[in-house]
Amino acid sequence: MNKKFYITTPIYYPSAKPHMGHAYSSIVSDFFARLKKIQGFEVFFLTGTDEHGQKIQRAAENKKKDPLKFCDEISATFKDLSKILNLSNNDFIRTTEVRHKKSVENLWKVLEKKKEIYLSKYSGWYSVSDEAFYSEDEIEDDGDLKISKLSGSKVEWVEEESYFFKLSKWQEPLLSFYDENPDFILPKTRKNEVVSFVRAGLKDLSISRKSFTWGIKVPSNNEHVIYVWLDALTNYISALNYPDQNNDLYKKFWPADVHIIGKDILRFHAIYWPAFLLAADIKPPKRVYGHGWILSGDEKMSKSKGNILDPLEIIEKYGLDPLRYYLLKEVSFGNDGNISNEKLESCINSDLANNYGNLCQRVVSFCEKNIGLKVPTSEEFNEDDLKILKNYQNNFEDLITNIDNQNINFYLNFIVDQLFKANKYFNDQEPWKRKDDKKRLNTIVYVSLEIIRKISILLYPIIPESSLKALNIFNIKEIDIDFSTILNNNYLSPGSNINKIDILFNKIKND
Ligand code: ME8
Ligand code: MG
Repeated sequence: MNKKFYITTPIYYPSAKPHMGHAYSSIVSDFFARLKKIQGFEVFFLTGTDEHGQKIQRAAENKKKDPLKFCDEISATFKDLSKILNLSNNDFIRTTEVRHKKSVENLWKVLEKKKEIYLSKYSGWYSVSDEAFYSEDEIEDDGDLKISKLSGSKVEWVEEESYFFKLSKWQEPLLSFYDENPDFILPKTRKNEVVSFVRAGLKDLSISRKSFTWGIKVPSNNEHVIYVWLDALTNYISALNYPDQNNDLYKKFWPADVHIIGKDILRFHAIYWPAFLLAADIKPPKRVYGHGWILSGDEKMSKSKGNILDPLEIIEKYGLDPLRYYLLKEVSFGNDGNISNEKLESCINSDLANNYGNLCQRVVSFCEKNIGLKVPTSEEFNEDDLKILKNYQNNFEDLITNIDNQNINFYLNFIVDQLFKANKYFNDQEPWKRKDDKKRLNTIVYVSLEIIRKISILLYPIIPESSLKALNIFNIKEIDIDFSTILNNNYLSPGSNINKIDILFNKIKND
């Protein structure tokens, strides 16, 4: 069987430069992409920018810029960020690209041909900030303004001719789809919210606008531009060369394995997107995972709230891998989480510098002094050795199952626990007291090296650059990393060369 895996981030609005929330979704997605890659999957990992619609048009107008030029500049900062975050993405899509326009136009035509679209008039509330329609019971007063209860963003009254998608018709098929695919929406709590929203009744959805021009025109009526969410969601298939459904990319990778998104955009991904696809006779994605928010104080960090933390500043101060590690470990995946410098510093000092970096250095320099820079020969493993080595066999299936359910916390807890055990093993075995029992000394070093190798492989999706530095001890290159080798307790060949390792993480000193 050919193992394929397609994962996406949301495509971000280039209305302002990226912030920590965007970095978070991207890092999480990269974690899964890299993990699947080392499990032998062929991976397609997509990210990009969502460039049409009124929100972007207004942002460009505010800066007195042509919208495309405006997008070119800010989209480039998102693309740069993907490099800075060391994302392993295969593509970066912009919705202003021709390939995407063709794809959206085609999807529209298919929906039109299948009589899923009709012309009428929309009158109701619209939030430009969310690019979302809200019903009367979803809004509330805020002084003189009307705001969305869900997002807190300002809504305005819209009344204009509009094309509609027959969403109401898809209420029952969607509910059956959720039933038949119980893990389509994760985490479970959010699934329940979506299901009750759909049960309460779906109204037809306005999918075109007439009062502005920045978007993809409705093919049969150029007075209308296509609703930006119908446009944006389609990116996930545009990147696979839709409408050509016979090309390799599309055949290999659609339906996507998982769309990683924030919970703010769950409705679009878990309701509208599968409804559009079902209506067009295209398979819906296999999963939508709506993660929590990175908070600033106790509010969502967002451009419109102006409370953003710049990932570049953190990376400059602490380095990329500490940030990746911190976000994956300290934000309980699925829930909201705060960023604090103290916690970040304690991750660096205790987990990364002490428990990991220091372990690598200690073992390698002990090996150098007592054995030379060679993998020693080991005797048969004793009970202590087997106890620590067997943790990997015993948890292997659980690690994979949990990861396939996006349970990052399980994976991270396992690593933290193994780091602790590895250090304890080396301390308790006291190889420095075994200088007259060379065979035992060699075995302890062998086991310790094996454990460093296994942990470094586990850490690769989290802190790829540092993990590769550690794996260089054994001359293991990125291309050679194979997750299943954590099961092998005799992977390292006795006599093969060992390389010294520089300090992996500098401790943060606060005085
Ligand atoms: O919604 N915490 O783009 P967007 C965690 N273009 N994640 C956050 C976050 C925070 N404080 N703030 C943003 C859009 N995100 C649309 C998406 S997809 C077809 C179109 C992340 O720039 C999170 O993934 O507003 C959220 O869903 C996404 O960025 C929204 O980014
Ligand atoms: Mg947003």
